[in-house]
Amino acid sequence: MQDTITKPLLKWYGENKRVLPWREKKNPYEIWVSEIMLQQTRVEAVKPFYERFMRELPNVAALAVCPEEKLLKLWEGLGYYNRVRNMQKAAQKIMEVYDGVFPADYEALKGLPGIGNYTAGAVASIAFCIPVPAVDGNVLRVMARLREDGEDILKQSVKNRVEAELTEIMPAEDPGAFNQAMMDLGAMVCLPNGAPKCEICPARMMCEAYKNGLTEILPVRAKKKARKIEERTVLLLFQNGKAALRKRADTGLLASLWEFPSVLENLDEAGVSLALAQMGLSAKSIEPAGSAKHIFTHIEWDMKGYFADVTGETDDLFWADAAAFDAAAIPTAFKKFAALVRARLQ
Ligand code: ADE
Repeated sequence: MQDTITKPLLKWYGENKRVLPWREKKNPYEIWVSEIMLQQTRVEAVKPFYERFMRELPNVAALAVCPEEKLLKLWEGLGYYNRVRNMQKAAQKIMEVYDGVFPADYEALKGLPGIGNYTAGAVASIAFCIPVPAVDGNVLRVMARLREDGEDILKQSVKNRVEAELTEIMPAEDPGAFNQAMMDLGAMVCLPNGAPKCEICPARMMCEAYKNGLTEILPVRAKKKARKIEERTVLLLFQNGKAALRKRADTGLLASLWEFPSVLENLDEAGVSLALAQMGLSAKSIEPAGSAKHIFTHIEWDMKGYFADVTGETDDLFWADAAAFDAAAIPTAFKKFAALVRARLQ
């Protein structure tokens, strides 16, 4: 495949590649941060987060010593917070084991927390010109169509096979451009859900799915299990001009982030009053605050909010004034309620 696809693909990339802040230099730290952010978030959405992160933590040394609260706040809105926690652990390991210098070695990169084949491949090929593949969902889709491969692209064995195939055809002179060309092709041309733009594709003549009219059907992805739905009543509590926040447990979903206290039931106002009493609080007023839904990978939260002015003391609540509220990392799941609460703080 090397001669047939590599040249037209690289030519297309040279003419069409997206201009992205982390593409301007070949700095491994910048490439790594961007690749981690891009794992669950679209390029356009990542840009402002990336710029802010780089301003605040411009290098490995700064990331290694950043206080956790600040780190989580910088990640607020990106979700999957373990990504940034692992990044900090990796930064600390780079400081301790590699004297603060990113290792220019695929296996050494994979030995860092949070760095798997994909991220190691992206950093190694883009920053260090090492000829290793970086296979993400876009690349799997492109390859399934090029090869007319009907196997489930979510299977690890398919990913291994695609990695092996790409390793064979990787151009030695600019493997980073090749990997990013595959990704950009997937993101801009070889689009998912039966909408590829084959008429502008540089690889159309080598594409088996195109030749055989199968681009609508490929790739095959096994159906995922249905998400569990969890009903929650979210309590937006106020006392003496401050709003209540609670720290989530330090393991599991949204670990160690701030949240509004909530009850795992769909409560009416009488139910809220009772729940508050059980927490040792008494409600002076209770008022509906609307509803919101948030979809995580494996679970969906259907939330109903209530404002309540309360009196009383509890152990696990932190009463935040406007400044403390602004400094707290609150997950996107609570975005709508957080905006409503913020508007009531001075
Ligand atoms: N998606 C994730 N990383 C990317 C990159 N380096 N280029 C294009 N798309 C990407």
